[in-house]
Amino acid sequence: MHSASAKIILLGEHAVVYGQPAIAVPFPALTATAHATDAPPGDGLTILAHDVGRVLRVHLDDETPDNALTYAAQLTLHALNARPPDLSIEIRSTIPIGSGFGSGAAVTAALIRSLSAALGHSLDGDALNTLVYEVEKMHHGTPSGIDNTVIVFGRPVYFVRGQTPEPFSVGRALHFLVSDSGVSASTRETVGDVRRLVDSEPEQYGGHIEAIGHIVREARGCLEAGDAAALGALMIQDHDLLRALTVSSGLLDRLVEAALGAGALGAKLSGGGRGGNVIALVTPEQAGRVAAALREAGAHQLWPMTLEAR
Ligand code: MEV
Repeated sequence: MHSASAKIILLGEHAVVYGQPAIAVPFPALTATAHATDAPPGDGLTILAHDVGRVLRVHLDDETPDNALTYAAQLTLHALNARPPDLSIEIRSTIPIGSGFGSGAAVTAALIRSLSAALGHSLDGDALNTLVYEVEKMHHGTPSGIDNTVIVFGRPVYFVRGQTPEPFSVGRALHFLVSDSGVSASTRETVGDVRRLVDSEPEQYGGHIEAIGHIVREARGCLEAGDAAALGALMIQDHDLLRALTVSSGLLDRLVEAALGAGALGAKLSGGGRGGNVIALVTPEQAGRVAAALREAGAHQLWPMTLEAR
């Protein structure tokens, strides 16, 4: 069995597409798994994606398939110079789709890990990351690469597009509540809409992108110093800028306001937006009250997440 966990962007989504930094962490509460079993000789390669009701046969065609799982398997076979083996790979995932958790990248990473291992290869992180990024382009159009990077390497990162991701230290344990709004939204659409805004009014919206970058650089210092209050204030500013970029929604704003109203130090949408999840920074004492407020405001699912000091 091979797996990959979900991810959470703490700060910097959308601006990261334009070369600004973003900070993201793995979210192991949600995972994708791939389980390979031998198939009878001559049966070829089949992917069973029960969660989305698909059974996919993988052939080595020249044309790019319209399914991301098939594409991931083909890319892996090409990279390893292999023919489709007689194999059945079953994919399962607890990661909600279109919810800012990197479901696509996690499922792809688990599948490629499973297929390459069955072929007798273990791809190193960079090789796997390159393949997952190719598939991400099919999902999202012009992804920054942050989702695949966090998910493949499974480590918190300070990420700038095109640069080697940097680890960062955390001065004091930080406690978050992650709430899924239960609404799924297309990252391809939100990224495209932000692109149109930035192109049409570069001064205003490009300014928002730069302001987010500034927030993320400051936030890194807050994480390193373990300054939760200052980090929370930056999360609130980041959410306001994301709202100005039109990627929030009435429900996401209500979840943010509910968390802040119940005393959270900071709260913001995380991921592509318009749906997906909201993260709130809390002290352990506040967590129960903030969780209750988030549920009351319409949180569909709720998880605690701790970023340990290191
Ligand atoms: C999606 O998880 C994060 C976005 O910044 C898109 C990207 O970085 O490719 C919205």
